[in-house]
Amino acid sequence: MLRGDVGLELGQRVAAALRVSLGVEITPEEAVIRPSNRDGVDFQCNVAMSLAKKLGKNPREVAALIVGALDAADAVEEPEIAGPGFINLTLRTSWLESEAVSLLTDDRLGVPVVESPRRIAIDYSSPNVAKEMHVGHLRSAIIGDALSRLLTFVGHEVIPHNHLGDWGTPFGMLIEHLTETSDAGDDHSISDLNAFYQEARQKFDADPDFATRARKRVVALQGGDERTLALWRDLVDESLRHFQQVYELLGVGMTAEDSYGESFYNPFLADTITELQNAGQIEESDGALCVFPPGFRNRDGDRLPLIVRKSDGGYGYATTDFATIRYWIRDRKVDDLLYVVGSPQSQHFQMLFAIARQAGWLTDDHTSVHIGFGSILGEDGKMFRTRTGGTVKLADLLQEAVFEAGKVMPEKSEVDAADQPDVARAIGIGAVKYADLSNDREKDYVFTWDKMLAKNGDTSVYSQYANARALSISRKVGRVPEAAARIVVGEPAERELLLKLLQLPPAVQAAIEGYAPHKLTGYLFETATAFSTFYNECPVLTAPSQEVQDSRLLLADLTSRVLTLGLSLLGIEAPERL
Ligand code: ARG
Repeated sequence: MLRGDVGLELGQRVAAALRVSLGVEITPEEAVIRPSNRDGVDFQCNVAMSLAKKLGKNPREVAALIVGALDAADAVEEPEIAGPGFINLTLRTSWLESEAVSLLTDDRLGVPVVESPRRIAIDYSSPNVAKEMHVGHLRSAIIGDALSRLLTFVGHEVIPHNHLGDWGTPFGMLIEHLTETSDAGDDHSISDLNAFYQEARQKFDADPDFATRARKRVVALQGGDERTLALWRDLVDESLRHFQQVYELLGVGMTAEDSYGESFYNPFLADTITELQNAGQIEESDGALCVFPPGFRNRDGDRLPLIVRKSDGGYGYATTDFATIRYWIRDRKVDDLLYVVGSPQSQHFQMLFAIARQAGWLTDDHTSVHIGFGSILGEDGKMFRTRTGGTVKLADLLQEAVFEAGKVMPEKSEVDAADQPDVARAIGIGAVKYADLSNDREKDYVFTWDKMLAKNGDTSVYSQYANARALSISRKVGRVPEAAARIVVGEPAERELLLKLLQLPPAVQAAIEGYAPHKLTGYLFETATAFSTFYNECPVLTAPSQEVQDSRLLLADLTSRVLTLGLSLLGIEAPERL
């Protein structure tokens, strides 16, 4: 049984009632037990409606049969049948209290470990070398890191890899430009490299001779010319240092060891193509080698190709991605492939997966998922840019976040002066991450400091405040609860809060199932809100009795643990004091 997951527990009871009364087998999930907003109702069960249709019976009649056979008097009050056949369920307070007992001693706060762990390779961040990371790379890093944490927490083996754009034609022009500038070989800082890229690009577009030399450079690079390779390494290393700084500031778990740039797969490209050829996938078209995944056509109805070898013999983005799939599945023996990459590349991945299945690299034992996401927009609703219209550099943005966070710290902060920079960082970086994660990832969202740092809203600051406040209660009371103390529910606000605290498991489950971190942020917001009502309505320092005070201390402590764990699964810190 999944400890602490109230909805599933009730689902199990409903499933048992159906077996007894109608001889129908369903899973606990199929009982569709959802939290209810109706006054005095905690959960609603909708299964009678869908079943009635299948059984050719009246839904209210089915509901009555379920209720008649339901063995749940220990957990719920007398169920009520409402409307066309909903079953309204209200938990018994005594049951909530006994569930709380097991939660208090459980480090996982009820979240179960999966029965069959998978080995999962997750591709996230994956910026391009020799260009500064910009805000577009932010979403991939934040979402990928949060999903890695969630999947790891429930027991999967997660292997992140950074598919750096570190190979291919742009390097010809970059290296050629490097050899022609006076400071060739000097240590370039990354901001210089950014400008450097622009210069090289301009030369490439304007000067056909340069373009020819750049193309020759690509051949030299691919042919393993030593001097060319050394220059290339310089460019890559400089970029890596910069990326690592950003990951550290962002608190993202991607490390230098997780770098598997496009260059890594270079030695495997020829074999990859041979295998595609042997699998009968390759067609020649205008001198290029192509694959045509079935079902992909353009507006005119022509089949869409992925080019695996250009007519000049060069390999492209798709070829490397085929080699990547082959490597992770075959050599690294992963079960599943996840790609956290912007939605514009959705078709690319669907085409890759289709061919990889036909080639036999992916089988029914593997899942491969493109986890797409929308863009970050400025307040004008257009692509997020700096005031002067340039692309926003990630490092600048994150510095600004920490600066802005300083403004929302309380005047009479409980934080020691020495710790304030760390706390400002936790708030500022947390706000940027939370704003990203709390939006449905497939949608675009608007980047607004005011909104993402609002103390009273669906923000990380709000949950961080609730957590710090929960922890400050026991400091103020100055004692810990008796060892035998229990949570006893008196006030409605206590009941509401406890009910929320018991529902971390389905929130985590939902976030994982849909690769949808916003399901978890939504839960944390509701929990912080329930705590805030509790905080206003249920005094702890001046509680009517020691028993009540103990219970409230336990509730506050549990709130802090739920918020801290929930935020940490999203890669967001929860400072103990604010
Ligand atoms: N470097 C690419 C870009 O910035 C993203 C790579 C995503 N991963 C992949 N396996 N194709 O667009």
